[in-house]
Amino acid sequence: MHIAVIGTGYVGLVSGAGLADFGMKVTCVDIDEEKIKKLKKGQIPFYEPGLDELVKRNLKAGRLDFTTDFAKAVKNSLVIFICVGTPPLPDGSADLSQIRDVALKLAETIDDYKVIVTKSTVPVGTNRWIKELIDKNKKVDASVDVISNPEFLREGNAVEDFMHPDRVIIGGESAYAIAIIKDIYRPLYLAETPFIITNLETAELIKYASNAFLATKISFINEIANFCEKVGADVTVVAKGMGLDPRIGPKFLNPGPGFGGSCFPKDVKALINQGKQLSSPFKILEAVIEVNEKQKLRVISKLEAFLGDLKNKSIAILGLSFKPNTSDVRESPALTVIPVLLEKGAKVKAYDPVAMEEFKKAAKNLPIEYASSPEDAVKDTHAMVILTEWNEFRFLDLGKIKKLMKTPVLIDMRNIYEPEVVKKLGFSYSGIGRS
Ligand SMILES: NC(=O)c1ccc[n+]([C@@H]2O[C@H](COP(=O)([O-])OP(=O)(O)OC[C@H]3O[C@@H](n4cnc5c(N)ncnc54)[C@H](O)[C@@H]3O)[C@@H](O)[C@H]2O)c1
Repeated sequence: MHIAVIGTGYVGLVSGAGLADFGMKVTCVDIDEEKIKKLKKGQIPFYEPGLDELVKRNLKAGRLDFTTDFAKAVKNSLVIFICVGTPPLPDGSADLSQIRDVALKLAETIDDYKVIVTKSTVPVGTNRWIKELIDKNKKVDASVDVISNPEFLREGNAVEDFMHPDRVIIGGESAYAIAIIKDIYRPLYLAETPFIITNLETAELIKYASNAFLATKISFINEIANFCEKVGADVTVVAKGMGLDPRIGPKFLNPGPGFGGSCFPKDVKALINQGKQLSSPFKILEAVIEVNEKQKLRVISKLEAFLGDLKNKSIAILGLSFKPNTSDVRESPALTVIPVLLEKGAKVKAYDPVAMEEFKKAAKNLPIEYASSPEDAVKDTHAMVILTEWNEFRFLDLGKIKKLMKTPVLIDMRNIYEPEVVKKLGFSYSGIGRS
């Protein structure tokens, strides 16, 4: 089976390499020539644990290839996975221009029956629109079927998630196309991964509803954490107590500096936008976004509570990626927090184990001093803020850190330290939801 994967970002590269590992012959296509050049040499354009090995193994076996030649890849393939970006537009709706480009190029190119599979996260109705675009613009009388196959991988754990997903969702109308996709995922089927076969709209909405629910859990526990601070409760214990109820479950009940990343903020906003258009408003989700925006600024009030005016205060920020084990900084809390600190006249020293290069690009010309280690970051600062729970921040030599700092203030937005232990070491400490 020959497969083309269009768009070789986080989802496309992991899916392409994963499908090659299942034994398919996969060609990954991208418009970014630099990216393709690097990938041909086995160089991964971003940090994702385990991906390097997966790509190299399948390149070597001759099952995986990279190209910018869209037409050739499509003509050689029966199945085409669309994995391009669907970033947010200013009004919150999903920007479908990359999807539209691909659909029009497919219409130009296809000369035979093809199954078009959308892995990108797209608003309900998009797969039907893709089929219409292709049917209206195609140059020869070749038929296409579309399938919605949303992806649920998590950055930082993407390879594992692709190889052992919780479920595979296949939405479509053609029994023949559905059978082809089931066949592609046969190794997962054999491993008893649950499959949901449904219509296009239901498959598209399963993805949005899942991300919106997870984001809701985070905003919910963040509000509980803020309330804990007022009443003297400990959110970590509250979450544990809640999570023992199987109807609630223990996951995604960790408070923090607000959710970020390339999916939750944009997907929640896109769903809100589509609900508005269809007069079916998502009031809960509007609150989820509002709570999240406020949460990102909690760290500022915590700093001011210890330091007063932040003008000329030097602040160390540990963690720039939106979560650990990824170099992705899209919608990272640090991108909100640092500009506010700078506006208030503070000086910022920042450190992240892998995301500093990406952050420099995203933060453009912000006057940030980048450090070479956590110890380098905290030197002569008035406070240290932990924004991302990288493992290497869990076991810092706090005795040494304290000596390096001007004032030992620790704002732990991920609750990775025990308040009593840190306070005993002489720090002024504030976690989240632990008064
Ligand atoms: N990143 C995640 O964790 C994740 C998880 C699940 C779903 N998704 C969804 O998957 C989609 C892709 O996300 P991503 O994070 O991989 O995006 P990305 O920005 O990392 O990658 C998109 C890639 O598509 C390429 N591209 C754009 N237009 C193209 C075209 N016309 N032809 C060929 N290539 C083209 C870009 O150059 C880029 O390399 C989005 O809809 C996203 O919401 C992402």
